[in-house]
Amino acid sequence: MAAHVSGEEHHPSESGYIRVAIALFLFTTIEVIAFYVEPLRLLDLLAPILLLLSAIKFATVGGWYMHLKFDSKIFMVFFGVGLALAATVILLLMTLTSELDRPGKPFQTINTQPTLQAVQAEEQTKGFTPKYDLKSIGNVELGREFFVSRGCTGCHQAPGIQGGGQIGPNQAHFSERPTIAGGLLPNTPEAVEKWLKNPQAIKPGTLMPDLSLNEDQIRDLTAFLYSLP
Ligand code: HEC
Repeated sequence: MAAHVSGEEHHPSESGYIRVAIALFLFTTIEVIAFYVEPLRLLDLLAPILLLLSAIKFATVGGWYMHLKFDSKIFMVFFGVGLALAATVILLLMTLTSELDRPGKPFQTINTQPTLQAVQAEEQTKGFTPKYDLKSIGNVELGREFFVSRGCTGCHQAPGIQGGGQIGPNQAHFSERPTIAGGLLPNTPEAVEKWLKNPQAIKPGTLMPDLSLNEDQIRDLTAFLYSLP
């Protein structure tokens, strides 16, 4: 009888395992549901909730399936310290990438280059009011990224953008130009979009190539150009 009791202490019963499995299943269900509840994200609660739930699940698995609950206390301490260490590393990494205070935007802060350019552009934009409602044209920030990633800087300079070639006109004060493409088009968003779509069709032989931009890129680039001080 005594042997049986101490045996029970070292091994959870079959129904014990099933209860733990059900509990794990329920925690997972809560995790999945939490993922889809929009307000939790807006309140920045999703990450803490998921972290807490996974810590509970991890401890449950460790305690029951790995028998830590039934073995010497020292194993539980090892396990707990490991868990705390892992959590600290994750939290440190999240802090480092600003994931904690600005979720979803880690890479912008790891790579300081675009941030620096945005800050410079912002400074130069002080006191400058765009001629058009830029938001109705496109996304200025994406346009700034396309301006670099689609190779425009190979030939154009622009305020707030590092480097830039001199084959094409410097795009500073873009909106103040009365015409574009050497006087062939008026300086309006529609005309700029037409130009970006296919410069060669408007001015055969121009040094500006067709850069195979899609409609969204064209709109974002146009908004960016009109945002330039
Ligand atoms: C190979 C060099 C080259 C590249 C790359 C290039 N351009 Fe140009 N771009 C030119 C030249 C040259 C002109 C002057 C056109 C002319 O009048 O013949 C020009 C003119 C323009 C104009 C009209 C401005 C004006 O005042 O005439 C806009 C807008 C423009 N480029 C935007 C862009 C954008 C946005 C990109 C990237 C998607 C880009 N360009 C890539 C060479 C280039």
